Amino acid sequence: MITYEKIFENNAQWIAEKQATDVNFFEKLAKEQNPDYLYIGCSDSRVTAEDMMGAAPGEVFVHRNIGNLVVSIDLNVMSVINYAVKVLQVKHIIVCGHYNCGGVKAALTQQDMGILNPWLRNIRDVFRLHKEELHAIPDPKKQFDRLVELNVREQAINVIKTAAVQQQFIHTGYPVVHGWVMDIKSGRLIDLQIDFEKELKGIQEIYRLV
Ligand code: CO
Repeated sequence: MITYEKIFENNAQWIAEKQATDVNFFEKLAKEQNPDYLYIGCSDSRVTAEDMMGAAPGEVFVHRNIGNLVVSIDLNVMSVINYAVKVLQVKHIIVCGHYNCGGVKAALTQQDMGILNPWLRNIRDVFRLHKEELHAIPDPKKQFDRLVELNVREQAINVIKTAAVQQQFIHTGYPVVHGWVMDIKSGRLIDLQIDFEKELKGIQEIYRLV
């Protein structure tokens, strides 16, 4: 376990390392950010956005919450998406879930979880949307894994439903939306190969906002 004091020692070491590679590292960093990626992931402490991607400061705009959810009335995630798309003009938006997700596990549990109920309801809704496929999986572990994947997929579709993404894509050909799962046992990132343009066309019958 990292102690509270150790964090500040580590920080001093990190500063020294960055300055060893480039004396003006922080001067440049302070000027502006120009990330090509928006990463929307789970708050889980084991899934460390930039670290697992090998991304440097300034390269990834990050939003994290329990279960990597993209909820249309969540002003937080919607503000992040709008700013990333319209101002930062990111090229890629990634929704990244992970196996063994506590949020997804909780949504598979028949129990009152207080304030978490309305949040986790969004994952229960994903289950309901895909219940035929999920009920056909006899192994509970495999069903859990599949719900993690389907949740990423549905949240990626929620990103595509936004006016910001639809409008920006028509004008610039960006951003492209991706779905990833991090396999927590191996650390491997799995690209779920969501066909962005196909999904965009698919939802526009109902969700077109341009
Ligand atoms: Co999680």
